[in-house]
Amino acid sequence: MRILAIESSCDETGAAIVEKNTDSIKVLSNILATSSDLHAKTGGIIPENAAREQVKAIIPVIVESLLKSKNLESQDFKNDFTRAIKILREEIDGIAVTCGPGLIGSLLIGVETAKALSFSLNKTIFPINHLLAHIYANFIQSPNSQLQTPNFPFIGLIVSGGHTDLLYFKSHKDFKWLGGARDDAAGEAIDKTGRLLNLSYPAGPEMERRANRITKTDLKFKSPLINSDDFDFSFSGLKAEVMRYVKEKNLTEDEKDEVCYAVQNAIIEVLIKKTLKAAIDYNCSTILLGGGVSANQTLLEQLKLNAKRYSLNPKIYAPSREYATDNAAMIGAYALLNGEEKKWNEVESNPELYFD
Ligand code: KG4
Ligand code: ZN
Repeated sequence: MRILAIESSCDETGAAIVEKNTDSIKVLSNILATSSDLHAKTGGIIPENAAREQVKAIIPVIVESLLKSKNLESQDFKNDFTRAIKILREEIDGIAVTCGPGLIGSLLIGVETAKALSFSLNKTIFPINHLLAHIYANFIQSPNSQLQTPNFPFIGLIVSGGHTDLLYFKSHKDFKWLGGARDDAAGEAIDKTGRLLNLSYPAGPEMERRANRITKTDLKFKSPLINSDDFDFSFSGLKAEVMRYVKEKNLTEDEKDEVCYAVQNAIIEVLIKKTLKAAIDYNCSTILLGGGVSANQTLLEQLKLNAKRYSLNPKIYAPSREYATDNAAMIGAYALLNGEEKKWNEVESNPELYFD
């Protein structure tokens, strides 16, 4: 089965063509337009602006994904559009689209576009939960990975700009939410502290680069809820602590690097401790990470290192950078492995969608 997948939950507009090979997913094209430069100017996302950019990008991105899946070069838009619709009509079996959670204005653009295509071309449609799709990015075939397709049961850790959640998956259909962020998500804490330090937006990549320059420092911030006997997280206090620390200080670049190191550590420490506790409690030897923060290599390395300390030898998966942050290929991956086929008029955008 070959499908067109669409992602438009926030400030990225994505379209991908994906197909299933036995139990892993092959990506034929994965196109992304982002309005993050616009949001960098306002220091965060203004939903109305994000939605306007989604409208501009959605058709060109879909057209490009269809042409790229056949290695066709772009010509002029009219011609491209005609060729793309022909591919969609003749070679694509269904359409997957993020239906939540996310910003309502952004979600509506992807969902209503998918519904229009589904209705006019008589294609089945798969509404997809963006959060679960972050975990399923690990089922995408990677030529560089030594690991095979993940096996159940596994622990899933979603760490993105909007969410931090731990889940236990027994099978595609049977999973349990173990806990999550009580306030700010991990990525949100990174972006908010990044703003205090005048880092580029989103702050994750620069924070990681700066943290990597530090080998030793005494600076330490509290890792919130590190000793609580549950699977919850809380990161809003961290922002307040960093704010107090940097207030009225004129930090040098080296001192900023130290703050980045300490912030990253405080976040990583609690993520690792609770993920490993979940793996032990639920007797899982496989862990899947997903979401933008899972692009952080220190998180991955430290998770592997700490697992050894607990005498665990889990298989740990994290998507490659392209599939860790928001993208449409992961939406297609979920649809092909566990999507529910719907008719176009049964699909709605749901900004509050969670796990039930
Ligand atoms: O999954 P994602 O692209 O969007 C949401 O669904 O929220 O995640 C975006 C988040 C941002 O907060 C960004 O700062 C963070 O992922 N991020 C990182 C890294 N790359 C992106 N955080 C830490 N280290 C990174 N290398
Ligand atoms: Zn996301």
